[in-house]
Amino acid sequence: MVFLISCKTRKIDNIEQANNNLLKKGIMKFFIDTANLEQIKEAQALGVLDGVTTNPSLMAKEGISGKHKILNHYSAICNLVDGDVSAEVIATDLEGMIREGEELAALHPQIVVKLPMIADGVKACKYFTGKGIRTNVTLVFSLGQALLAAKAGATYVSPFLGRLDDISTDGLHLISEIRIIYDNYGFETEILAASIRNTMHVINCAKIGANVMTGPLSSITGLLKHPLTDSGLAQFLADYSKGNG
Ligand code: G3P
Repeated sequence: MVFLISCKTRKIDNIEQANNNLLKKGIMKFFIDTANLEQIKEAQALGVLDGVTTNPSLMAKEGISGKHKILNHYSAICNLVDGDVSAEVIATDLEGMIREGEELAALHPQIVVKLPMIADGVKACKYFTGKGIRTNVTLVFSLGQALLAAKAGATYVSPFLGRLDDISTDGLHLISEIRIIYDNYGFETEILAASIRNTMHVINCAKIGANVMTGPLSSITGLLKHPLTDSGLAQFLADYSKGNG
């Protein structure tokens, strides 16, 4: 009996601890990494989508080109989802990044200006932070780059997990170490695990405490799947039919 009571107390303590941790860290956001409106709609319909990330390659994949069409497409995406929409600058010089970023930010309050991790990208990030414009520093592959992005006040930092794995480097390890550094100093920059390729990437990022994951639709819908769910449901329905013809 004593043992049972102490187990119960410990369980309640654990739940309280878990809730405290949840409050401290907030929820894990799910972003979809695409410029495809149909896929964005499908993820949105699932009710778990918190935002969208795009990049010039994803826009080109959808055949979106020319300034007017690109800006219209970002507006269309913002109208489909409630959360943040990352829109990447094309310029690689500070003046150009500022000009483009301000134009993108003015398009819609949901827009987050995506900047490459280069010297002028860091300067632009600092500039936008000062102006209250939210940023996503992209193409991050090292701890030093992640530290610089946080120092410049980035809203999000995007370490590219899949692309590191592609070259036999442990992308998850990088994300776990960014977590340690950011927690050491209380940096508010959110870790946006990018270049997610599969459901295990999503799950492992959740274990590490990445604030956000962005991946293709399949990395989100894939989380639904389990053969025992399918066979169990088929059995339930078959048994129901037996009694209810
Ligand atoms: O949006 C940036 C990032 O997620 C790219 O992913 O699959 O092209 O490496 P991937």
